[in-house]
Amino acid sequence: MAEELHDGFGRGISYLRIAVTDKCNFRCVYCMPPEGVPPRAHDELLTAEEIARFVRIVAAEGVRRVRLTGGEPLVSHRIVPLIREIRAIPEIEDISLTTNGALLPRLAPALKDAGLDRVNISLDTLDPVQFHEITRLGRLEQTLAGIDAALAYGFDPVKVNCVVVRRLAQDAFGLAKLSLDRPVHVRFIEYMPIGDEETGTTRALDVSELADAAVGEPAVTNPHCPGGVDASAWDASDTVPSEELRARISRAGEDAGIGALEPLAANDGPSGAGPAAYWRFPDAAGTVGFISAMSNHFCSACNRMRLTADGAIRPCLFSDAEYRVRETLRAGSDAAVAAIWRDAVAHKPQEHQMIEGTERFMSQIGG
Ligand code: GTP
Ligand code: 5AD
Ligand code: SF4
Repeated sequence: MAEELHDGFGRGISYLRIAVTDKCNFRCVYCMPPEGVPPRAHDELLTAEEIARFVRIVAAEGVRRVRLTGGEPLVSHRIVPLIREIRAIPEIEDISLTTNGALLPRLAPALKDAGLDRVNISLDTLDPVQFHEITRLGRLEQTLAGIDAALAYGFDPVKVNCVVVRRLAQDAFGLAKLSLDRPVHVRFIEYMPIGDEETGTTRALDVSELADAAVGEPAVTNPHCPGGVDASAWDASDTVPSEELRARISRAGEDAGIGALEPLAANDGPSGAGPAAYWRFPDAAGTVGFISAMSNHFCSACNRMRLTADGAIRPCLFSDAEYRVRETLRAGSDAAVAAIWRDAVAHKPQEHQMIEGTERFMSQIGG
């Protein structure tokens, strides 16, 4: 089996995140403009066959783990056949998916059958009104049902992602307690100011694109939340450092008689390829993790590259540098595709700078 490729700074590249679509059935305020991302012509997007071909080629270059993201990967009608094709690639050891969970109750059996190993589900709050404010189109019970479905269909591990924003004052302890009785791994992510401030969040809601997403009736009106949350006002002070949050959750555990969070050795946490550090309440079924996307530069251990839905390789979440591969996937040889991949890996930046006004929304980069 092919050895891992190393980038210019000696980092082994074994993890590919693929944005299968940039559409989503939610419109989280920190991720997308209210009207969704601009629609793209069909032929601008990679087909499932093209994505699978790309994975086969980079598997021969040392990629071992694949994560399917979006937008929301489950709104893509190609998701199940795509997973089936990737599962057939012998070098790929782990196929995971990051989702808002809303479509999991419907799709979990087919995803399991196609060979998906595990899911990470985004859930920023347990307050139904706040959930709708943040997601604009989502309902809390959809995502909670998604977590139940993930557990019921045996995905393992099941992780929950919560983006923490200071001014939202989410009940982090309430979320962390989800790990007490069920084997879920609740991870708190430091909010990263990323996206387009000008088009951020203040425009009127337009759900016309949703027909395309085929998700049934979205909750588009909420009497408690006529205007939504204005994320364009958020700034660096809204990032809550993991250390601060962990101390707060731990103290709340002690006050509630559960006990403080205990650190887990790296090998005792749930399996995964990302940068989360894990802790656990005494005797809990699951764990509590922290992703210090801002306070702790984990760039030196970064093992990942990204493929965008429109067929560009992105070596870093925070850099707009892209290596177009769509045309080569359509008209070129495997060797030509592999050459672009190697070039992109060789040019992966050493560390990220936060770029103001980056050209893509988070949903277009694939979280
Ligand atoms: P596993 O640990 O394998 O389960 O996956 P993961 O944590 O890598 O995947 P997930 O899609 O759940 O991503 C969780 C969070 O990690 C994202 O919300 C981002 O905040 C952060 N993240 C993902 N990729 C990058 C990256 O390339 N750089 C930085 N700084 N943060 C990232
Ligand atoms: N900062 C931190 N995390 C983010 N995500 C989306 N946008 C941001 C942001 N600006 C998270 C999603 C999902 C994961 C892939 O990325 O909530 O869980
Ligand atoms: Fe959709 Fe996830 Fe972005 Fe929310 S964070 S709009 S669920 S892709």
